[in-house]
Amino acid sequence: MGEPHATNPDGYVHSRDAEEYQRLRNQGAMWQSATEALLDRIGLKPGMSCLDVGSGPGQVMRLLADRVGPDGTVTGLEIDGQLGAHALAGLKAEGGANFQLVQADMLASDTVPGAPFDLTYCRLFLMHMQEPIAALEKMHTWTKPGGVVAAQEFDFGAIAVEPICHAMTEFNRLFEGVFRGHGRNLRAGRQLPAQFEGAGIGSLDGTVTEIKYLPLRDMAAMLIGVYQGLFASAVELGLADRARADAFKADMAEAAADGRYYCLTPVLIGAWKRVS
Ligand SMILES: C[S@@+](CC[C@H](N)C(=O)[O-])C[C@H]1O[C@@H](n2cnc3c(N)ncnc32)[C@H](O)[C@@H]1O
Repeated sequence: MGEPHATNPDGYVHSRDAEEYQRLRNQGAMWQSATEALLDRIGLKPGMSCLDVGSGPGQVMRLLADRVGPDGTVTGLEIDGQLGAHALAGLKAEGGANFQLVQADMLASDTVPGAPFDLTYCRLFLMHMQEPIAALEKMHTWTKPGGVVAAQEFDFGAIAVEPICHAMTEFNRLFEGVFRGHGRNLRAGRQLPAQFEGAGIGSLDGTVTEIKYLPLRDMAAMLIGVYQGLFASAVELGLADRARADAFKADMAEAAADGRYYCLTPVLIGAWKRVS
């Protein structure tokens, strides 16, 4: 594995480099159908306005654009200007809706150009917040009366490889250590109902949940990528070193090639509420 990059000043635990950006795109493709299922449940219509908080590589913005069309508006709010600008350029080149990108820390933003929106949405975002209820309160404020607040978050409670796999034990040690060490949430998905209530949004209108059980060979690159992307944060916490990381990568590649192992992915839990 390469040298660890400096950790992010905003406390984001994953690296911000080309490999991590590609991993996010691969992850987005993997969970596209779950996001489409949620978007199709909440009644998006042509001409509506949407905000994607923590929009990252912009794949959800594309799915939103497909639903709101050329008269609709899709705004991404992303703290990482490099990632956001790259996503916006690709979305605008393809067209299909009016795209905007706001580069900002959502927690430091009182408003967003274009607010209030018909839909305020986030995916794999609240799990990175030390104060997810504060983030949801802001999303609520930026939503029109009659509009929808929606979130899709991972829950890591079930993630596992069967049969027991040494490489997965090392993955879990590092992953949980970094998330806990930075006050991040491993149970964000299951906590969405309580967090919507806590933010004053109210009890949910519905949930959509997806989990996959895949041959480890189909998940190994993602797991190695996550480990690598968390490596700098793990080094900072004293949880990792180069030798251990190299051994993990070799062990995971060997287990993937073995053919016996299957991986239970995180659960992606989606929740939404139409607000009054
Ligand atoms: C795990 S990625 C998910 C990206 C995208 N939502 C997806 O599902 O592919 C989380 C994103 O949230 C962004 N982010 C983290 N903290 C943020 C903040 N305070 N304000 C805005 N964006 C933030 C990160 O830079 C990153 O792009």
